[in-house]
Amino acid sequence: MDFEEVIFKRRTIRRFKQTPISIDILRKLIEYARVAPMARNVQGVEFVIVQKPEFKEKLFPLLRWAASLPEDQRTPEKGREPTAYFIVLNNTKIKKTFYNFDVGASVENILLGAVNFGLGSCWMAAIDRGKIRELFEIPAYYEIMQVISIGYPDENSVLEPYEKSFDYWKDDTGEIHVPKRSLNDIIYKIF
Ligand SMILES: Cc1cc2nc3c(=O)[nH]c(=O)nc-3n(C[C@H](O)[C@H](O)[C@H](O)COP(=O)(O)O)c2cc1C
Repeated sequence: MDFEEVIFKRRTIRRFKQTPISIDILRKLIEYARVAPMARNVQGVEFVIVQKPEFKEKLFPLLRWAASLPEDQRTPEKGREPTAYFIVLNNTKIKKTFYNFDVGASVENILLGAVNFGLGSCWMAAIDRGKIRELFEIPAYYEIMQVISIGYPDENSVLEPYEKSFDYWKDDTGEIHVPKRSLNDIIYKIF
């Protein structure tokens, strides 16, 4: 896929077809994170891949979906859940400070790489870190950063011009509309 197409096609997706994702693709996405830019090149970002049904079922209720939408439109319905997850970690034995940007760069590589494989994803920070730590037996020296939910998309999301609110919305057909500020609005100055 053309680079610009990937950039614009990447939208947060929260409804998924139940087609499984191959482990080769999941590993390839982590490979994209592996080479992301890292402050001082110190690489503390690590991942848990979750693809077994029993673990997916236990992880799903620990995630909070689409806070901008009315409650009955937030959470994926049964049969439209993500088919895999990455739990994004920072290994504090390797890096103790200044790793938030490393995580951001790694995750964005994954989200864009996912689009190139025809996958959709949702980067999620509203997660129950305590229960996730317990469920996956993640030691205390790992900071649990976020979860990336992934799968083949079963919904469509489109960009809209920003007007008065950053809230995204869902229309009657189930399509998501995501307002974004204009190019001119975010170029603060040109010298
Ligand atoms: C750091 C971060 C945390 C997010 N956490 C959640 C979350 O917990 N649940 C969720 O449904 N979406 C979450 N999102 C997705 C945003 O809602 C989404 O990126 C935003 O609405 C813009 O849509 P777009 O990704 O299609 O541009 C998160 C996004 C980012 C960057």
